Amino acid sequence: MRSKIVAGNWKMNKTLKETEALLAELSAKRPDTEAEIIVAPTFVNLATAVSNLASSVIQVAAQNMHFAENGAFTGEIAADMLLDIGIDTVILGHSERRSLFGETDDFLAKKVDTAMAKNMRIIFCFGEELQERQAGRHFAVVEGQLKNALFHLDANAWQKIVLAYEPVWAIGTGETATPEQAQEMHAFIRKTIDEKYGASVAQNVTVLYGGSVKPSNAEEIFSKPDVDGGLIGGASLKADDFIEIIKAI
Ligand code: PGA
Repeated sequence: MRSKIVAGNWKMNKTLKETEALLAELSAKRPDTEAEIIVAPTFVNLATAVSNLASSVIQVAAQNMHFAENGAFTGEIAADMLLDIGIDTVILGHSERRSLFGETDDFLAKKVDTAMAKNMRIIFCFGEELQERQAGRHFAVVEGQLKNALFHLDANAWQKIVLAYEPVWAIGTGETATPEQAQEMHAFIRKTIDEKYGASVAQNVTVLYGGSVKPSNAEEIFSKPDVDGGLIGGASLKADDFIEIIKAI
């Protein structure tokens, strides 16, 4: 079911104390909204976040996970470990995982399969780099990322997928895609899904935009018909900014 979502990707930020403080502030200031609100703190603080938000509508997601069931994967986290502490949503394919940690579409497809087997919800990130957009290849790149990591799934599986289009050149740079650029790509994403799965899957999938969303630009971006919300990095680390972005939806 297509829904409105504002998700905060905290990346490698916030100690335990800072996590607790930010969660308390978000809970206190959270506006009434029909949108889902999700936060993704770092792994070591996830269990605390789940417990501190036990009576809140704010949900907790993980920023990543490994595809293997368990075993000799030093430094990695398995799906069951997340499920066991009450987390069933995971961000996969973030551009920092792709560019800094070498995650490929094929590798991500395995993670997607594991998440599906475990009945988890995926926030799947993808998007083109600056030189790809400058060369006019952005549609082809995005199409390839979707096909390679997700198009082996059956139509039913798409109920568990949230897409997050994040042009790499807009992440953490202060440079945002214009609302028109976001809408253009989101419409293309739906068309690509429609061609493979049909209109029902394409119209029901939630597609978020990510990349330097902030209080000053959120409303305009969210107003576009194919933009269902945002994946927010930097601006999710300050309660007031994140709250303003939630209000914008
Ligand atoms: P940003 O990050 O909002 O800081 O650009 C977005 C993201 O990486 O998801």
